[in-house]
Formats: sequence, structure tokens, C-alpha cells
Amino acid sequence: MKTHPYLAGLVHSATLHINEVSAKRFASGQQVYRWGFGQSPFPVPQIMVETLREFASEKSYLEVQGLRLLREKIAAYSAAKIHCPYQAENILIGPGSKQLIFQLLLAIEGPLLLPTPSWVSYGPQAHLVHKPIIKIPTSAEHDYKVTPGQLVHACNSQLFSQYILILNSPNNPVGNIYSANELQKLAKVAEVHNIIIISDEIYGDLSFEENYHSIASFYDQTIVTSGISKWAGAGGWRLGYCCLNPSIESLTKIMNKISSETFTSVSAPVQFAAVPAFEKHDQIISSKKQSINILHTIGNHIHKSLLDMHIKSPKPQGGFYLFIDFEYYRRILFKQGIETSKMLCATLLEQTGIALLPGSVFFRDPSELTARLAYVDFDGQQALKLERTIDKNLTSAEYMLSIAPKIVEGLEVLKTWLNNL
Ligand SMILES: Cc1ncc(COP(=O)(O)O)c(C=O)c1O
Repeated sequence: MKTHPYLAGLVHSATLHINEVSAKRFASGQQVYRWGFGQSPFPVPQIMVETLREFASEKSYLEVQGLRLLREKIAAYSAAKIHCPYQAENILIGPGSKQLIFQLLLAIEGPLLLPTPSWVSYGPQAHLVHKPIIKIPTSAEHDYKVTPGQLVHACNSQLFSQYILILNSPNNPVGNIYSANELQKLAKVAEVHNIIIISDEIYGDLSFEENYHSIASFYDQTIVTSGISKWAGAGGWRLGYCCLNPSIESLTKIMNKISSETFTSVSAPVQFAAVPAFEKHDQIISSKKQSINILHTIGNHIHKSLLDMHIKSPKPQGGFYLFIDFEYYRRILFKQGIETSKMLCATLLEQTGIALLPGSVFFRDPSELTARLAYVDFDGQQALKLERTIDKNLTSAEYMLSIAPKIVEGLEVLKTWLNNL
């Protein structure tokens, strides 16, 4: 059977691949520090699980755009959070925000402006819809954030009447957050150059400080995508959403048509069960706060420990990733034949069991010695229980030992490996 030649370059998603390799190593009795795959470690809040049970017998197809009640809740929640005039009509529910981003790339004309490092799937998705990609490599000096000057330069170097920019804050793989000031400046450039922005805010509810802003507050040609996969630990439920400013109603209609001809509607019980996620239940509020505290403490601890080992990364501000740089060890690694991020990660996994994703899969230059570290290798359920009762006077090292002992062990293994290079 022949498949379309255009798909020849398509590879299995790198994040899923590392998970499979780590699982095989583990099954053969070898040690694995799972810092590669970024799945939320936290359980789905109980109130959502109970609602799912209650609505398990819902069997009819729901409206293509999504259950109205759920859309009303998401509209109110998002309008309050990011100060945009959303109504139920402006919300679309899909089987994960990944699918919705794909549909947006299909529906909106223009090349994709892609600041790198970027999440692994934007590039392949753009490729699938035959969209030109204009990569914008960001620098460590600017915490891997795209600057207004870079955006102007990228638009001036091409001749298109409209562009698409995907901004992702809090960011995967960097774990940083764009400030309100930075977003305002980018919004101004977007307006001048006719850039439509897809603001991927899937980690928006895992911001460590009260500093979370959305570019949608400053620019109406923005589509916000988000979901319950990260903060609510419900990746496998496959429910995401996007919020479209009322001024881009025509896009809402097109998106609905694409949904109707592809996935039809998201699983009915899951849509009902997602409703409490956007209501003000004590359980939801406290589990979000506790998850944030846990991730913030772990992120800070790893960041500091790695700096002590001369491995740099921007300070963690949200989500559960660090984008780390082994540049300090370049010469010594080079002597051992390690010249790329891919070789670095393969050697590290083989010699220590530490699984990281190489910077090259996030569209960085292959020779850059960067990698993504996902700090989710701990028992989220247990961590939430401990977080409720733990002595708040513990040092960060003591806290880490009780909440994430495997991560502490992995850091020691890494330190020994670096010392023995
Ligand atoms: C940056 C980013 N965007 C989007 C997604 C997709 O999330 P979902 O399809 O589960 O809503 C992910 C998941 O890994 C992600 O890391």
C-alpha cells in the first residue's frame, strides 16, 4: 500500500518515543529517572471523577461546539481570568487542545512564526497542513522568549499578507512566563504586521506566582487554547477548548465545520465531568494551589541544584519543565565524542538511566547541548497528601526527600556522572 509521499518525513512524536524507551529499560530491571515525558503526576480532582461516574450513561452525541453548560462555565472562567469578553458562543470544545491547535493551523491562512525552542507538535502539525514555517530561534540571554525585534525581522524577511504566531506561556519546554509588558510589546508588533496569535495556555493554571497574563487581554486577534490535561491531571480524558474573541466569529464558524466533519463532538460523559473544573469548588481551588506549591518547590530545588553543577536554565515560573544547558561541559563531552544534544541524551540514558529530551526535538540547533527536563517523576497523589500535612519549616532538601525522593536520587546520579566525565 502506498501512503502519501508528503508524510514520509513524519516521525513518531519524540515525547511518546522517550516514554517507550524508558518503559522498556524499566521492564528489563534497569534504573530509570523519568525526566523525559511530561505527563501531570496529579490525580484528577475527586469531584470530576464522581461527576464522570454520575454521567457515565450519557450516550447521545452532543452539540459539535460542545456542551452549552460547559462552554458557559469556561467562558465565565476565562473572561474573569484573562479579561476578555467571552460568551458561550466564543468557546469551542475539542478532544484535547492539540486537536484544536491543528484545526486552527488548518483554518487560518499564512505561514507559522515559530519561536524555538517550541513544543514538539506545532512544527509537524504545520507541516501536515502544508504551511510554511518561519523559525525564530530565541536566546538564553532573553530567557528563550521571542522579542518584538525578532518578530518584526521575521515578518520583514517574508512577503505574506497575514502570519500566525504560536505563543506558549507558561512555556513547554522552558517553564518561563511572558510578563504583561512583554506581551503588550508583542501585541503591538502583531497588530502592525497582521499576525494572528494562537496563545497556547495549557499550563496557564500552573503559574507559580500571581504574574500570569494572556496576550488575549491586549490583542483581540488572539485565540486562546487550553484544557484540563495539565492542572487537573486529565490528559487521558481528552478534553481541551479554545476561546475566540467575538471579533473573529467567522473563524468560529469554520472551526465548527472542521469539527463536524472530523471528530463530531467530545465524549459526552467527559464534557459533563469537566463542568466542576471551571466552578469555584473548594476542592478544585485547593488542589490547584497545592499542585502549584509542590511544582514550584521542586522546580526551584532542581534549578538551584543544577546551577551548582554549572547546568544553566531560566528560573522555573510555571508548568513542570526546565530547559537546561550543558554548555559548560562542551569540551569534556566533545572529547568523549558527544557533540549534539541527541548524543548527550542517549549517552546519559544509557549510562545513568536519566531520560531527558534533546534540545533538537524542540527545533534547536542539533549542536546546542540543551535538553528538556520534566520534573514529574514523583507520586502526585502522595505528594498532595503530604503537602496538606507537611511541616512548613522543613528545608527545601528535607521537603524534596519526602515529596520527590526519586528526583533527589536522580540529581545525585547526574552529579556523580558529571564529576566522573
Ligand atoms: C505546550 C503544549 N500544548 C498543548 C498540549 C496538548 O494538550 P492536550 O491536547 O492534552 O490538551 C501539550 C501537551 O503535552 C503541551 O505541552
